[in-house]
Amino acid sequence: MVNAAAHVEVRAQALGVFRPNDVQPAARPGDPLADAACALIASRQNVSPKRLVEPGPDEAQLERLFAAAAAAPDHGQLLPWKFVIVPQAKRSLVAEAFALALIDRDPGATLVQIEAAREKAYRSPLLMLAVLRLVSEREPEIPNVERTVSLGCAVQNVLLASHAMGFGAGLTSGRAINAVRMRTLFGLGADEQAVCFVNIGTVSKSIAARVRPSPDQFVTSLCGVRSIESASPRQAK
Ligand SMILES: Cc1cc2nc3c(=O)[nH]c(=O)nc-3n(C[C@H](O)[C@H](O)[C@H](O)COP(=O)(O)O)c2cc1C
Repeated sequence: MVNAAAHVEVRAQALGVFRPNDVQPAARPGDPLADAACALIASRQNVSPKRLVEPGPDEAQLERLFAAAAAAPDHGQLLPWKFVIVPQAKRSLVAEAFALALIDRDPGATLVQIEAAREKAYRSPLLMLAVLRLVSEREPEIPNVERTVSLGCAVQNVLLASHAMGFGAGLTSGRAINAVRMRTLFGLGADEQAVCFVNIGTVSKSIAARVRPSPDQFVTSLCGVRSIESASPRQAK
């Protein structure tokens, strides 16, 4: 897993690929870089924030993470998403929002539960909130499903770039994420939705590789002949 990551880094630098404004394919067919890149993608897996310790990405690495995010497909170039970094000095504010959001929805929450909610804000060296901008009157173009896919790709690019650089990364959400306390803290507008926290750091303890689905579980092919004449437009979703 780490070998694939290191190989991609070294080969990419040697080949001078991944340059900004370079629209050429990153590798020629049959290039071993493709094997390494695919191995790297296939070996990514979620790392719980509990297992993420210092150091996190430095400034230069952060820049590369965001360059990866910016490569996400974006219909209409609306940039319908953003990442909000939570510096260490502001973690206590997020901790407070987690705690108050819990008390708001469960006034009977115990001190242990409240402390556990608070603790979520301190787990990983890099913590940032991924925020989606939804369709609004001001910006009616491009449906929410496409905006969501764009954000998902940006998040995945960040996860993969983290993995390529030797970090672990994981996503967290939960009920507090769009609670009014959290939304207020992050200054989210009516057309914005918090989707998940992205947690990145050094993996303290690795876990067994996850078994992934095989293509026959998620790939089909359009086959057979169906009459489309009788399909009413009113049935279409
Ligand atoms: C938007 C989003 C939010 C998530 N939030 C949580 C969460 O709060 N807690 C959790 O255990 N997993 C959460 N997950 C799932 C993990 O990030 C991870 O995808 C899952 O454990 C499967 O692991 P894998 O990414 O290695 O396949 C979330 C996933 C997504 C896409």
